[in-house]
Amino acid sequence: MLPTLEKFIAGMPKAELHLHIEGTFEPELMFEIARRNKRKIRFNSVEEVKEAYKFNNLQEFLDIYYEGANVLIEERDFYDLTWAYLQKVHAQHVVHVEIFFDPQTHTDRGIAFATAINGIHQALEDGEKQLGISFKLIMCFLRHLPEEAAFQTLAEAMPFKEWIYGIGLDSSEMGHPPSKFERVFEKARQEGFVVMAHAGEEGPAEYIWEALNLLHVARIDHGNRCLDDEKLVQVLAERQIALTLCPLSNLELKVVQTLDGYPIQQMLDNDLLITINSDDPAYFGGYINENYLGIARPLNLSKETLAQLAKNSFRASFLSEEEKDRMIAKVDAYCASFTI
Ligand code: ADE
Ligand code: ZN
Repeated sequence: MLPTLEKFIAGMPKAELHLHIEGTFEPELMFEIARRNKRKIRFNSVEEVKEAYKFNNLQEFLDIYYEGANVLIEERDFYDLTWAYLQKVHAQHVVHVEIFFDPQTHTDRGIAFATAINGIHQALEDGEKQLGISFKLIMCFLRHLPEEAAFQTLAEAMPFKEWIYGIGLDSSEMGHPPSKFERVFEKARQEGFVVMAHAGEEGPAEYIWEALNLLHVARIDHGNRCLDDEKLVQVLAERQIALTLCPLSNLELKVVQTLDGYPIQQMLDNDLLITINSDDPAYFGGYINENYLGIARPLNLSKETLAQLAKNSFRASFLSEEEKDRMIAKVDAYCASFTI
């Protein structure tokens, strides 16, 4: 029997808005795919892989995350990766996902853009039909690469425009400010994509200002460092620009030292539209429910606050206003009917 808090979180309908599909690559599946593709991994066992997942910062994680993705070769690999994630979160009562993929991680190794997106998209379609999970797919540019490479990736994406809802920006933040991508984001917006960017994870509040003012983002991924700038908090709150927070990721990448002081209440008190997400769950020790639980326990969050976070996940999503209202009503109904 699950303790009450765990049970409450586990059964609550939720959306996940910040999830890198390559970050869901569990070591067991990595070994299986490496074997069938006859690729070597430098680890001998699942335990050895898990032992290597100790990071001091974002870059240390990214190095191992890109290495893991190297064994993804065939369309079927991308399908299996995405399908495994969907099954996992279906069991966690996630009913809507907005997931990232990093095409350059694959195209730079000679894997066709089509191979990656066909596999991911097919699994998302099957997930909608078989598991009832609605979805949006978001393509990220790798910010450690030049803007020219992002332009190239945008061009490669055009035949798949119908499948790609938005454009994001991820990878090594420090030294790669949003301003580096101002022109390619302008082109992406002209093409009709919704845009968002990782900002203020390791980078300063200034990067969040740039994401807002130069990239014209609809959401900020992470955004923790906004709290360093009162005026920025005010603007994010007034415009209800959502922050997609990832507590376990922040802990594992030493963005925060513990979850005891994770500023959920401070952010809610400042009217920030915050959401809870898992980022790269296979690397950070937990999927979405573990992220909710990871803050709920040390911060002693009430059921009302947890429900507020779940409702925010729908409010901050790219669902239609009618769908948002319908999902938020479901969270309210769940809370009203929840008994120990
Ligand atoms: N790519 C995957 N996870 C990331 C993160 N937490 N920050 C930046 N880029 C990422
Ligand atoms: Zn991320």
